[in-house]
Amino acid sequence: MLIAGNWKMFKGPGEAAEFCRSLFEELEPVADGVSVVVAPPFTSLHAAVEALRGSPVAVYAQNVHWDQDGAYTGEISVDMLRAAGAEGAIVGHSERRQSFGETDETTARRAQAAFEGGLGVIACVGETLEEREAGETEPVLRRQVEAVAATVPQPDATLAVAYEPVWAIGTGRTATPEIAEEAHAFIRSLYPVEQILYGGSVKPENAEELLAQPDVDGALVGGASLDVHSFAAICRTAARLSRS
Ligand code: PGA
Repeated sequence: MLIAGNWKMFKGPGEAAEFCRSLFEELEPVADGVSVVVAPPFTSLHAAVEALRGSPVAVYAQNVHWDQDGAYTGEISVDMLRAAGAEGAIVGHSERRQSFGETDETTARRAQAAFEGGLGVIACVGETLEEREAGETEPVLRRQVEAVAATVPQPDATLAVAYEPVWAIGTGRTATPEIAEEAHAFIRSLYPVEQILYGGSVKPENAEELLAQPDVDGALVGGASLDVHSFAAICRTAARLSRS
């Protein structure tokens, strides 16, 4: 089970360090059976890494570029992330796809570079409300998953796919456990990835029913990951389920 917190554009270095120190304390007795990741903004990566030194919690970036260096204003390379102490990166988040022109192709290139550079990868996929209502959920997921699968043909434990229906992100509208399970099973039929995370309004109150689904192997948590108590509560639920 993998629980990842996507902080988006929240928490500078001071707040990140404080959060990570509290998380370290909260999780110490319960981290068994669950891998925990936090993904702060780039400028807070180093502070988070330092505060989590000696803890099993890993720090991921929220994006990564495919080239080692070059004229790419605003981008960060695999080596730069590694130097900051990051162990992985999220790629293809729907906010990147919708607001910053990220495509299946750029997502795949980012995933491939991170994977080849030894970083863990959480590759995000998910349909919009219009696509779901038009009955296009499966073709959309197929297109998005196959793009990543083409560049990372042999998934291993360092690659996770996050199913994040766009209509459930930041809306308070969570997919039902049945909807999540159906999408996860479909993704698994396309690509033998070890971990498929659900994302979209996951919180302590709904984490158990989602994580209990057979093809839900963890969660990518946005809003509820900003509060250390609610994030730790979701991690504890995952730990309990993975032991049972
Ligand atoms: P949310 O965000 O939990 O706030 O819906 C999830 C995500 O965007 O990864």
